[in-house]
Amino acid sequence: AKIKYIECDGTEHQVDVPNGLSVMEGAIRYTIPGIDGDCGGACACATCHVYVENGWMEKLAPMEDLERDMLDFAFDVKENSRLSCQIKVDETIDGLVVRTPARQY
Ligand code: FES
Repeated sequence: AKIKYIECDGTEHQVDVPNGLSVMEGAIRYTIPGIDGDCGGACACATCHVYVENGWMEKLAPMEDLERDMLDFAFDVKENSRLSCQIKVDETIDGLVVRTPARQY
């Protein structure tokens, strides 16, 4: 599915992430700056924090408790914050736009 990552300086990366990967894994695959994913997607580091663009939050599968708890450790958490390793890519989120924070911790 097409995913657009926008860096905090406004640089846009529109890429085609294979279905089945997470939004974090997509960023790593295309070496998009701003997403670290230090724990490899185990929801244990909070360095894959992203802001979900307006209108997309409701289209994503809701957060589980583990993600909610781990998100507390992220930097500058907002209403539209998610951990991108917990967002699975499939055709239902084709066109998703996420913004990366100024820093991950
Ligand atoms: Fe570690 Fe997402 S990659 S919490």
